[in-house]
Amino acid sequence: MARIGVVGAGYVGLTTAACFARLGHDVVCADVEPAKVESLSRAEVGAHEPGLPELVEEGVRGKRLRFVLGNDEALSGVDFVFLCVPTPTGADGAADLAAVHAVLREARGAVRPGCAVVLKSTVPPGTAERVAGLLGRDDVGVVSNPEFLREGHAVDDFLRPQRVVVGASAGGEDAARRVVGLYEGTGAPAVVTDSTSAELVKYASNCFLAMKLSYVNSLAELCERVGGDISDVTEGMSLDDRIGTAFLEPGPGWGGSCFPKDTKALLSAAEEARVDFPLLRATIGTNGHQARRVVDLARAAIGPLRGARLGLLGLTFKAGTDDLRDSPALAVAALLAEEGARLVGYDPCVRRDCGPVRVLGSAEEVARGADGLLVLTEWPEFAELDWPALADSVHRRVIVDTRNLLPLDKVVEAGFHLVNLGRRA
Ligand code: UGA
Repeated sequence: MARIGVVGAGYVGLTTAACFARLGHDVVCADVEPAKVESLSRAEVGAHEPGLPELVEEGVRGKRLRFVLGNDEALSGVDFVFLCVPTPTGADGAADLAAVHAVLREARGAVRPGCAVVLKSTVPPGTAERVAGLLGRDDVGVVSNPEFLREGHAVDDFLRPQRVVVGASAGGEDAARRVVGLYEGTGAPAVVTDSTSAELVKYASNCFLAMKLSYVNSLAELCERVGGDISDVTEGMSLDDRIGTAFLEPGPGWGGSCFPKDTKALLSAAEEARVDFPLLRATIGTNGHQARRVVDLARAAIGPLRGARLGLLGLTFKAGTDDLRDSPALAVAALLAEEGARLVGYDPCVRRDCGPVRVLGSAEEVARGADGLLVLTEWPEFAELDWPALADSVHRRVIVDTRNLLPLDKVVEAGFHLVNLGRRA
């Protein structure tokens, strides 16, 4: 059993803390927000993350998991410190490391000899080496251990990961070996490398997935123009196991708190290293064009948008989360509002109005009197709606389904004109 300090109780830090407690370790998790620390100490988890409330409750009750205000306890008296603080996009597209640096300044005088300082926050290549210098402690190993947690699956991804990646900065080799040991219970293969390579694995993975999605979104546009069905195209591609089946669904663009930030940060790191990376630029550029493309499809199907009442189904950046950060649905909404559309929306995980979108309590309310419906998030329940009943309550029977989620036959049978991505309208 190890003593572990986790700095930052966001979804990565909280998942890390609760899962290490589940694996039998003694964990103290620090945050700077008093309200958050108080509610977590009562085992109340605000975020929508399946399985996490139960794990936090189990850890707190079993006294293997504690939440504290301020970082002191999570830095001193532990064998491992995991940094799980945000690294948002800075002014120039690069990752802003202010929070990481602030914790390291505190850690300098606080951590015990022999402690491993582990960077779980997503940081640009070379950061662990640089901060090892900043920390200035020869008796402490600095290790990179990126996370690969998907929102909505974070607990499962932590406890049953496909891989564990651990990178040692110079002199941190022993600390890295000990970090690998913490994951023994998960049975996952470990890639043990230098810290810069480990940092790159994280960016390279997210950017590769984003690139796959931008590729599919462009293919979908091509299908619409030349005639072709993107589902059949991707099915045909995916039977080649070098391509695989995952991340081939077209959509209104990729969003969330990771892909937009990480693609920009890797591009910025490449530029700084004077490496031209046109693939990454195109990946980002293609995504920037998706919301506009959805609005063009809506206008083509519905007609002029000024004054139209449009019902948006789904607002979060993907299904299974309540996260609205960098949500493509909201990017589409902003453009629709710019064209003068009146917007109402429904999302199973959103209760408050979002910018120009008045949020209602059900899909049925959103449909009432609508001049058009847009499916923007792939919540499975949207596929189960009563289409004949909705057909009677809308003003005009037009749907733009950007997730290709709805059952085509039922929706068309109910009298709707259905527009999908990657299929001729
Ligand atoms: C992503 C990665 O999948 C995780 O492995 C990583 O750990 C995490 O970022 C992170 O860096 O912390 P997440 O942001 O939760 O996880 O979201 P994803 O499930 O990857 O979805 C990203 C975006 O792609 C969403 O907007 C989603 O709707 C979109 N998407 C995904 C599609 O449009 N089509 C698909 O087929 C799959």
